[in-house]
Amino acid sequence: MNIIIFGPNGSGKGTQGAIIKEKYGFPHIETGVIFRENIGGGTELGKKAKEYIDKGDLVPDDITIPMVLNKLQEDACKDGWILDGFPRNKAQAEAMVEGMKKEGMPLDYVVEIQLPREVAKLRITGRRLCANDNNHPNHIAFDAIKPVEKDGKLVCRVCGGELSTRADDQDLDAVDKRHDIYYDDNTGTMAAVNVFKAVGGNTKVIEVNGEPSIQEVTDAVLGGLK
Ligand code: AP5
Repeated sequence: MNIIIFGPNGSGKGTQGAIIKEKYGFPHIETGVIFRENIGGGTELGKKAKEYIDKGDLVPDDITIPMVLNKLQEDACKDGWILDGFPRNKAQAEAMVEGMKKEGMPLDYVVEIQLPREVAKLRITGRRLCANDNNHPNHIAFDAIKPVEKDGKLVCRVCGGELSTRADDQDLDAVDKRHDIYYDDNTGTMAAVNVFKAVGGNTKVIEVNGEPSIQEVTDAVLGGLK
């Protein structure tokens, strides 16, 4: 089963992608995570990507497109994949459609998590990352997933791990820029969403309201993957 998840930055793509991975066992490919791992490892790719990510810009297409298309051809992806964070503009979407056609790779589902911009912004700025598992949901503004206090500091509500913030989450100009790119339906991510919504054939489009609780969003997503 091949799935692309779209949604504004902070809408819960990573959260839902991890849940789908847990249920079906397919690799969850997150371009943002690949870049952050490279930044953490001090690789050449990481050094280049950091310049763009810190400002809220997209990493250039000539780096990102081959990186993803090669990843999808790895053995681990042969039975299915969940792609999160790509494509992010019209050029990436067109390259993806072309690449899939060339490889005879089907696309089963396009999941679009819809969320108003102001809510997405709050989700980003209040997000806290667990040192033990990036996918442990922690958010300082939502009671259901609020971190817990231990020895005077906030720790992960799931495992007690240390919490941190992402550098690109705390710079409000960079957050706004990420959302400008997402909601741009001319050449930005919404243009890419529209390319994939128009693919047709056996590809099913699942539009989900991202505003309710994580569990409710999960129910809507998994309910559509049938
Ligand atoms: P990336 O890592 O993809 O960041 P993003 O798109 O900004 O997405 P996020 O990870 O911030 O949000 P999310 O939708 O996954 O939300 P989450 O589940 O964490 O990309 C980072 C950067 O890398 C980009 O800016 C760009 O520079 C570069 N890049 C990446 N891909 C690229 C590409 N293809 N081309 C070029 N450059 C690229 O949820 C957010 C918070 O809300 C969490 O705290 C979560 O617990 C909470 N939450 C989730 N769902 C709910 C809910 N239903 N109710 C309450 N809280 C919720």
